[in-house]
Amino acid sequence: MNLKDISKQATAGTTTAGTISELKEIETKYLGRHGEFNQYFDQLPKEEKPKQGATFNLAKQKYSAEVQKKSDEIIGRESAREFDVTVPGILPSIGHLHLITGAIEEITGIFEKIGFIRRRYPEIDTDWYAAEGLNIPKDHPARDDQETFYVSDNVVLTPHTSNGQLREMEAMKKPPIKMINIGKTYRRQIDISHTPMFHQFEGLLIDKNIDITHLIGVGNYFVQHYFGRDRRIRLRPHHFQFTEPSFEIDITCGVCGGLDCRLCKAGWLELGGAGMVHPTVLKNGGIDPKKYSGFAFGWGVERVLAMKNNLPDIRNIYSTDLRILNQF
Ligand code: DAH
Repeated sequence: MNLKDISKQATAGTTTAGTISELKEIETKYLGRHGEFNQYFDQLPKEEKPKQGATFNLAKQKYSAEVQKKSDEIIGRESAREFDVTVPGILPSIGHLHLITGAIEEITGIFEKIGFIRRRYPEIDTDWYAAEGLNIPKDHPARDDQETFYVSDNVVLTPHTSNGQLREMEAMKKPPIKMINIGKTYRRQIDISHTPMFHQFEGLLIDKNIDITHLIGVGNYFVQHYFGRDRRIRLRPHHFQFTEPSFEIDITCGVCGGLDCRLCKAGWLELGGAGMVHPTVLKNGGIDPKKYSGFAFGWGVERVLAMKNNLPDIRNIYSTDLRILNQF
């Protein structure tokens, strides 16, 4: 074969190469140490070599450039395949807020719409704010209602968010007060409806001429926005030291719609405590009970969340099991 034929064959071979390894094989066949080009040159008579040297080198260089071009083309095609934008992507797993964080945000949003302001007060507080200032004297049996954790003689892990009432009165100095205090609370209790650490949302509204109808209105507003349009509350007489009168608030059962079923008591479920702020508590907060009146309520975040989602065991809320958490 002459040099022209070798070049022609080499070019033809290269154009058929589909992959880099095929191209390498062809390149070796022609440009390799013992490849077609060199074999051709080696078998030339001695005197021919200097004469053909330049042409020979040129032919090799030309072919070498063709190989390079082909290689760029194949690599370009392969990398284009790597970045194929039409291949469906792998979705990164996106987390979500913890159930309680989500519930707190939702509850806050509902109350903010009607002008309550989210507040936070200490979750470890003195006996004064958590009990005595709320009209619960030291030896009063009402202290047994709450299985309080004591940090020292005078300091407790707050068993309710009601400690925020006096602190809010002190902070605001003067009504109107419209607070929603949401925080951690602690009690020595654990079973399917209790965890030793839980959350409460404490509403407090103090102004001139506030009466029970305002409490009923706000209660109905909340349950209708949190649980659903068809829900409503009722007040059941109760006793708390810091309210007079005091009530237990019930909500119509979401399962039977108030007809009576296994889940509820005659169509009602217990939501939590409420009442008209006791004059002594107003006084302790520096507010004149002759001028102002107010209502308060304290309900459990875990409790409303469990009621809304039909959770059978409140403790599951604090599970780290993703099989549970991913259901929300
Ligand atoms: N602090 C009470 C508890 O944890 C709940 C409560 C009842 C809060 C009546 C109030 C209220 O603000 O007025 O059991």
